[in-house]
Order: sequence, then C-alpha cells, then structure tokens
Amino acid sequence: MVSVSLLSGQGAVSRIYQQHCAVCHGAEMRGGLGGSLLARDLIHGDHPGTLARIIREGLPDDGMQAFRNVLSEEEIHALVVYIREGRAAALDDRGPRTARQDEGVFETEEHNYRLEVVAETAGEIWGMDFFPNGDMLFTEKEGNLRILRTDGRVTDSVANLPPILHHGQGGLMEVAFHPDYEENGWVYLAYSEPLAENSRRTQTTVARGRIVDHTWVDHETIWRAVDRFYTTARHHFGTRIVFQDGYLFFTIGDRGDRNEAQNLASPPGNTFRIHDDGRIPQDNPFVDHPDALPEIWSYGHRNAQGMDIHPETGVIWQTEHGPRGGDELNRIRRGRNYGWPVISFGINYNGTPITELTEKEGMEQPVIDWTPSIAVCGIAFYTGDRFPKWRNNLFVGGLAAEVVHRVVLDGDKAVHEEVILRNRGRIRDIANGPDGYLYLAINLTRNQRGSEIVRIKPAD
Ligand code: HEC
Repeated sequence: MVSVSLLSGQGAVSRIYQQHCAVCHGAEMRGGLGGSLLARDLIHGDHPGTLARIIREGLPDDGMQAFRNVLSEEEIHALVVYIREGRAAALDDRGPRTARQDEGVFETEEHNYRLEVVAETAGEIWGMDFFPNGDMLFTEKEGNLRILRTDGRVTDSVANLPPILHHGQGGLMEVAFHPDYEENGWVYLAYSEPLAENSRRTQTTVARGRIVDHTWVDHETIWRAVDRFYTTARHHFGTRIVFQDGYLFFTIGDRGDRNEAQNLASPPGNTFRIHDDGRIPQDNPFVDHPDALPEIWSYGHRNAQGMDIHPETGVIWQTEHGPRGGDELNRIRRGRNYGWPVISFGINYNGTPITELTEKEGMEQPVIDWTPSIAVCGIAFYTGDRFPKWRNNLFVGGLAAEVVHRVVLDGDKAVHEEVILRNRGRIRDIANGPDGYLYLAINLTRNQRGSEIVRIKPAD
C-alpha cells in the first residue's frame, strides 16, 4: 500500500505535513532543523502512541513546539499514519527479513523452501479447501467452482451453481467442507447473491449443497440477509467460513457503509455464528437484545477476509482490512466490539482522517496493527509435519503488499513476525494440504492475469 506518491504530495495528510512539519523535518522527512523521521532508530521510538504524543505535546526542550492547539486529534492521527508509511517505505528491510530467492530456494529464519506451481487458471481464485482424497476444491470469483486433481488437472466448473453476481469485489468467494464431509457430503459456499434475476443489488449469502456427478445438488441457503440489506455497493463482502463444535462462523464486511459496523440490527461488519444447518444458537451473545440480529457473534469489523482456528487453543483469529493503515489481526471473542469505525489505526485513502481514536473503553485492540496496510487476506495456522518449526504459526497473506507473513503467537500476543514471501502476486488464500505442504492461492498481477496455486515444500 505504500506509494511514493503519498510522500510527494497526494492527499490531505501530505498537505498537513508540508504546512506544519516540513520546515524542520524536511519535505521528504529526511531532516533539517529537526531530525530525520525516517531514521532507523528514532530517539523516542516509533510506537504510534509515542508519535502522537510528541506531535500533540511537542518536545519543548529540543525546540519542537506542541501542536495540540494547531492540529485536531484526527490530523495528528493522520500524521502518525503518514510517518509510519514513510518509514516503512524508507526502511523496507526493517523487521522481518525478506526471503531471498537463490536457485529457487527461499531462505527464511526457520526453514528453507521451494515454491511449486500446481495449477494455473484464468480466473481470480478466492477460496480453497481439500477433499479427504487430496483433491482440492477452489472458487474463482467469476463464479466457477473447480476441482484440482492430485495429478494437477483442473476441471471445468461444477454445474448448476446458485445465482452469483460477479461484480467489484463480489462473486463466488469462500468454499469449505463440513468437518464430517465424509459422512454427510456437505460443501459450503459464500458468495454475492443478486436480489433477483438481473438485479445489481447483492449481499453475501452462505449456502450448502452436495457435489454429485460434478453437479451442485441439494442446495440449501444457510444464511441470507433480508431483502432491504441488498445493496448496489460492489465491495467489502467479507467473507470466510470456519467450523467449530457444530457451529459455523462467517464474516460480512461493512459493504462500504462504515457506520453499519456498529449497528447490531444490520448484517454488515459482523462475525456470525450459526448452526451448520443455519439455525441460530440460543446461546449467542445478542439473542436477548431486542434490536440485534441474534446470529451476530462479534461486531465493529471493517472487512474480514481471513479467519482460522488455532489448532491447540481453539481460539478464532481473524484478519481485517483496514483503510489506509490499520490492517488488523484480531482474536475473536464472544459479543465483543472490534471498534470500526470509532477506533482505527488507519486514515481514509485520500489522506483525510477517519477518527481521532485508536482505542476506546469497551472496544477491542488488534493483536497486530499493520500500518501501512498490507491488505491482509487469507490466513492459516500451519498444522502439517513438513515444517516442524512452523507448527501452529499463523501464515497471513497480503494482497497489495504481495507478501506472506509468518506470525508466532504466544497466547494473546504476537511475539514474532517474518516475511517469508514477497512479490509473487496478491496472496488471496492460504491452506494446509493433506500432504503437509502449505498452499497459496495467488492472484497474479501486473500484465499477467489469472491465478496460480502454489505449494511450499521443504528445500533439503
Ligand atoms: C520548529 C521545528 C520543528 C517543527 C515545525 C516540527 N518539529 Fe518535530 N522535532 C523538532 C526537533 C528539534 C525535534 C527533536 C529531536 C530531533 O532533532 O529529531 C523534533 C522531534 C520530533 C519527533 C521525534 C523524533 C525522534 O527521533 O524521536 C517527531 C515524531 C516529530 N518531531 C514530528 C513532527 C511532526 C509530525 C511535525 C509537524 C506536525 C513536527 N515534528 C514539527 C523540530 C520540529
């Protein structure tokens, strides 16, 4: 997400910087009367709270005035994002080491690996999951549900899918097998459903069905919004699906209407918990709340497009797209408010502020705040045995930044982070293969279109 143009004048925050800060810290933050804000080690550190405090209160002994009476809290917050973006662009090798490609071997902290392309398709792959026999079922946003055989062949789309409108960020998105698929045959899909034939109004819908003779049969809608929540907005559909103890959790983004994320009476901006057949659990947190949708499990989310369950603790983890800055990793807890858009570490894409607050009583803090945004997408805890030192680490894909991060968690905390892949394409989804390899669904960029599925294999 970092672009040099942000430093050279695009967006309101850049004007604020040029007007109030450039005279001492330089037009490009490299310093002058005041020090460089791009130095690897700032004197006071680069924690966002510290940066905000210095701008607000100044450093009177060093000759920097307080800006509390000059700038609003929102503007101060926007400047913090701006400084963090500039620092990330300047210190590109800061923090986790970039994986280096040397004769096809990527060297990372714990394991060296090779990438193997197992399939290429013309569409935009969005979700993937594995049959017990090792075949993969994957979606293309355009509305295709295909099977990747273990011999590398990719089938045509499964026939007879429900109506799906592919527009903007919507289309056929998530696919997941029921944990008891071998007994019941259920496959779950999440997609943008048109309100009616030829309607441009859509909403995220969750359905299940079975695949018999390469045809979608026994279709059942598991969750659907009421008609008035179908909108022409083409973005922020969410969505991922995970199963736990007979329950199904899924997400819907704010659909571009950010205040809806705080509204318990409407679907956008929530995590939902339903039974695997669509019934609403009577122990959900808001069942007794008169106005709330009883299927809501957590709220205040912007657009969650990654979700997985920790293999040992059973805790649900989620990645959520921030605006400009403020991508989040969240630990999802029953009934909690994740704060969007009341609190955020990000600002609007055009550099104008969204909110002055990064925290508030009663609202959850992210476990990781990625500022600048990497455009966090699919995630997976590694559960295989091919990479013993990666077990239970969380792998996080980034779209815009074209990265895969490895995150080491200790309880509620992220204790270490490493970039293990860079510049291969937009990482849409990550999954554990039954073969113990880690699979990536990558949307190719630049002059290439289409997608590839690659697997990460140990390099001996
Ligand atoms: C009159 C000159 C002046 C102006 C204007 C000014 N600063 Fe500073 N600033 C300084 C000086 C001097 C320091 C002391 C440390 C140094 O030299 O970097 C400092 C320190 C800082 C630091 C701490 C750096 C560190 O290494 O810990 C930050 C962050 C900062 N300024 C941000 C800003 C921002 C943002 C603005 C605009 C809103 C601004 N400053 C405007 C002079 C200025």
